[in-house]
Amino acid sequence: MRKQLEQHDSAQAPASGRHGLAAGDAGRPHSADWTIAQGWERYTADEHGVWKTLYERQTRLLPGRACDEFLQGMNELAIEADRIPDFRRLSELLMKRTGWQVVAVPGLVPDEVFFEHLAGRRFPAGNFIRKASELDYLEEPDVFHDVFGHVPMLMNPAIADYIQAYGEGGLRAQRLGHLEKLARVYWYTVEFGLLRQKEGLRIYGAGIASSATESVFALESPSPNRIRFQLERVMRTRYRIDDFQESYFVIDGLDELLELARIDFAPIYERLASGPEYTPGEVSLGDEVITWGSGEYHRGRRIAPE
Ligand SMILES: [Fe+2]
Repeated sequence: MRKQLEQHDSAQAPASGRHGLAAGDAGRPHSADWTIAQGWERYTADEHGVWKTLYERQTRLLPGRACDEFLQGMNELAIEADRIPDFRRLSELLMKRTGWQVVAVPGLVPDEVFFEHLAGRRFPAGNFIRKASELDYLEEPDVFHDVFGHVPMLMNPAIADYIQAYGEGGLRAQRLGHLEKLARVYWYTVEFGLLRQKEGLRIYGAGIASSATESVFALESPSPNRIRFQLERVMRTRYRIDDFQESYFVIDGLDELLELARIDFAPIYERLASGPEYTPGEVSLGDEVITWGSGEYHRGRRIAPE
């Protein structure tokens, strides 16, 4: 899988929806919540340099592609090119605005730990950064994906509440045995969501916003489907973990996510026990299709689904 990713230049964070699956006890830190010190002072000039390369590439691409809220959050957080952000400073600003903090973790954490953090308005972010020689490959979400991709959106009150609710919902789903279905909602919104602004489609998902290649693919390629977001449809849809998405789901505004945060999922899980399950590239009868994808990019590619 690693080789395939490098060859195909997929810059997304394939592991970002697999919280905990790769986290073995070997990597467990001393604290029960898996947090560690960011160790900002220990970043080397080369590591700040990788951040700068990635930052400059994305900030060239995102105006006109990322949604207004993302660009505004980026601006207000004063995330800069020259250095990896200090989580203490980000947390101060976030705390004032939406009551969130960024906490450092050494990599993927178990699901339960991840959800506990989100439910407590703490965003766990990898404190390490990818190598300069592997700019477009991520085995686990690093500081660029987690901070550049996710943190600007946490300045938005709707997203801030939605992600907290997802954490609480995740703990419940885990107890009920429905985590797989709920994880698809996170994947197709927080990670790979598109939003319709009056000027056109825009990115709000962190997996897209932190990836140079997918920022262009998600919006401009004729290959993927772009489909109006419907909760149950999304919960029935599998996704790609190691390549571009075959379908993106589009919301009309971030308030739509806030409504999702208030829904009782228990009856939905019951309904999902029967009925169809969709492959990542499938268009279904009830879909409001915004762009019918040609599917040309994924045709003939051997890709591992979720
Ligand atoms: Fe992520």
